[in-house]
Amino acid sequence: MFYHSLENPKNTAGFSEALLASLAPDGGLWMPDKIPTYSLQQAAKLAALSFADCAAALARPFVDKKFSDDDLQEICRDAYDYPLPLKTLAGYELDPSIPELRGDEFILELFHGPTLAFKDFAARFMGRAASHIMQMSGEKRTILVATSGDTGGAIGDAFLHQDGIQVFILFPNSGVSKVQEQQLTTIGGGNANIHAIAVDGTFDDCQQIVKDAFADEELSETFNLMSANSINVGRVIPQSFYYFWTSLQLKAAYGDKPIVYSIPSGNLGNLTGGLIARKMGAPIDRFVIGNNMNDPFVEYLASGKYSPRPSVPTLSNAMDIGRPNNFPRILDLFDGDYEAIRNVCWGASFTDEQTERHMRRIHAETGYIVCPHTSVGHMAMQAFSDGLDPDFIKVTVSTAHPGKFADSVERILRMDLDLPKPLSKAMKRKKIYNLASPTLDAIRNIVELKQS
Ligand SMILES: Cc1ncc(COP(=O)(O)O)c(C=O)c1O
Repeated sequence: MFYHSLENPKNTAGFSEALLASLAPDGGLWMPDKIPTYSLQQAAKLAALSFADCAAALARPFVDKKFSDDDLQEICRDAYDYPLPLKTLAGYELDPSIPELRGDEFILELFHGPTLAFKDFAARFMGRAASHIMQMSGEKRTILVATSGDTGGAIGDAFLHQDGIQVFILFPNSGVSKVQEQQLTTIGGGNANIHAIAVDGTFDDCQQIVKDAFADEELSETFNLMSANSINVGRVIPQSFYYFWTSLQLKAAYGDKPIVYSIPSGNLGNLTGGLIARKMGAPIDRFVIGNNMNDPFVEYLASGKYSPRPSVPTLSNAMDIGRPNNFPRILDLFDGDYEAIRNVCWGASFTDEQTERHMRRIHAETGYIVCPHTSVGHMAMQAFSDGLDPDFIKVTVSTAHPGKFADSVERILRMDLDLPKPLSKAMKRKKIYNLASPTLDAIRNIVELKQS
């Protein structure tokens, strides 16, 4: 499999090169030349495997010869040692083997990994794949990652104590939840290869600094920079695996009923993964996109006009993105055909007030607790379903455990949350981080200092 640059498709690379270089030399995003496709029969066979083994098989055509089948199986079994349940709001889990099915609405809980957010799926695959390549070549890398809250924790966890890798996590000061900040600033206890930097600005500023760092040839070469954001194609591909596997579990249980996934979205990396899975043959009819008030993609779906803009802070802070990184990848998947995109994607955006009210409603009606992001996704699914023939399977993707946003969830639901163990442990650790102004120079100084 070759990857081409979205700036100039003549610029190509193999998987290992695209993963480590993050961006093409012309600054473009890498995209697979050809998405592998599976017939429904082949797909059903893959989905009968465990999720980890299915992921290893799906990864095969995307990677290169540096990875044997055994390597991929080992990487995926090690990365995916936690469940990904499809649950009803009443708490029942989909089990295709039981004859009595439990309604037609599910929450896909993608938050059972070590940092309790869907980012673990991509970060753990990418971290292990990158280490595998670097062990073979013996080279060293510096990872710069901008985070709106969850990516930093997942990348820090995935690369902790990996030889030859230093990780710098840029997060917006006061722009992430208390629990997220605690997670981000306590990885490795300050003595390891993970360094947190609170940037005096927004997530878009953090993202811009990372882009500027890559555009700065001297800096990029001196430190052998690598990105772990979803600009890196190695982050996006593994996000197709869970759409593929779970949609086939649903197909096995429900036969020919159409399946619709709703995704709370910001940078559109998760949606890109879903669209790749659909191209591979996953039986997904449509995708619903939930945005907060940072909604350039929802606006694009409604009007055909794409107007990226500075982000505004909201309750679902991990989606405060005014310039989604993966928009060019979505265009590429559809050859830029707006009508084709609209046939598959539908979107709606919501205010914080609506998000809060919906969290309270779900909790009062069912006892289920959603994080603010999942609330946005669930509202979008309801808005999509309104007035439609209800005979389809609805899956809202839950992107984070509500405990990651305990400060706002507790205020909104007026109750105390029991934090899961990894979070309560992180809350007791001492925060260690650097503060920086939102400039490349400020970040360069910190990176130089830590590596001297
Ligand atoms: C909890 C949560 N939900 C949703 C998103 C948005 O995902 P994407 O940026 O892939 O659209 C993020 C991304 O940071 C997130 O952390």
